[in-house]
Amino acid sequence: MKITVIGAGNVGATCANVIAEKELANEVVLIDIKEGLSEGKSLDMWQTAPINLYDSRIVGYTNDYSKTANSEVVVITSGLPRKPGMSRDDLIATNAGIVKSVTENVIAHSPDAKIIVVSNPLDVMTYVAFLTAKVDPRRVFGMAGILDTARYRAFLAEALNVSPKDIQAVLMGGHGDTMVPLPRYTTVSGIPVTELIDEERLNAIIDRTKKGGGELVNLMGTSAWYAPGAAAAQMVEAIVRDQKRIFPCCAMLNGEYGLKDIYLGVPVKLGKNGIEEIIELKLNAEESKLLHESAKAVKEVMDVYDMMAKSATV
Ligand code: NAI
Ligand code: 2OP
Repeated sequence: MKITVIGAGNVGATCANVIAEKELANEVVLIDIKEGLSEGKSLDMWQTAPINLYDSRIVGYTNDYSKTANSEVVVITSGLPRKPGMSRDDLIATNAGIVKSVTENVIAHSPDAKIIVVSNPLDVMTYVAFLTAKVDPRRVFGMAGILDTARYRAFLAEALNVSPKDIQAVLMGGHGDTMVPLPRYTTVSGIPVTELIDEERLNAIIDRTKKGGGELVNLMGTSAWYAPGAAAAQMVEAIVRDQKRIFPCCAMLNGEYGLKDIYLGVPVKLGKNGIEEIIELKLNAEESKLLHESAKAVKEVMDVYDMMAKSATV
């Protein structure tokens, strides 16, 4: 089995490394447009195999999509990352052009692949990949919810002084400041989180989660990669091992939550066919309002892309 990661930058290389270390495929192909980058990084990673004891063969190529042929899963991380002061949406025009051309190449060589988009602005780039690939939307989806939920869970684990393993949570909406963490669906080993932490501290954690990407951009001058790479690899694992795991992912909605023709973060079941089910939670009025506000913000950026595509500026 072959898995391809497009973009050998911070997120792509980290994701490929986790995939190889977990032996999710016998061949992991890393592609980048920058001459020598994917060859060098994959060679370096492959030299960790005798140390970390895995045998997934990891190889890199400059823009040669013939080497990606018949991949089971393709992760698209190519594109510019955020710099301080930039919102994810500032990246739209540049990254839409990149995601579109990459998806054309991916689908030409792996027509049956499941495609996981990571490039930002995430919800809209997933939409771009879907429009370009022209395949069932259950095979084209985006990574954001696992990352955002991981940040929320990590902050909660720290505040409660418990293991992050025991924190279960759901987070919905777009990958941006309008994301919707759901305290009502957050537990610590089954105990409602609201029984363990006061409202003020919980609200501060929710607020920090919403700004979690920006916090790291401000610290590092570029966006995060360890957790994003691991999160995308977790989605790959659920697919290739047909785990039927329930994760928040960016999926095309077709009437669920009263929303249609929009890519948005919702809980889904991930297995060998990609998105096998969209889980519809019973949201209360306030949660539903926040989700619809988030959808509106995502739709505005999708509309910007549609206008750019119509006037052929991307
Ligand atoms: P990076 O700059 O380290 O890597 C991006 C790579 O893409 C570069 O190596 C570049 O040469 C390559 N690239 C550009 N155009 C290409 C093309 N046409 N074909 C193949 N490769 C191409 O950036 P980083 O940190 O890896 O981030 C990648 C993307 O992921 C950014 O858009 C970033 O905003 C996004 N991101 C999304 C997250 C999420 O939760 N969805 C989390 C973190 C980052
Ligand atoms: C993140 O959330 C910037 O989307 C990127 O880290």
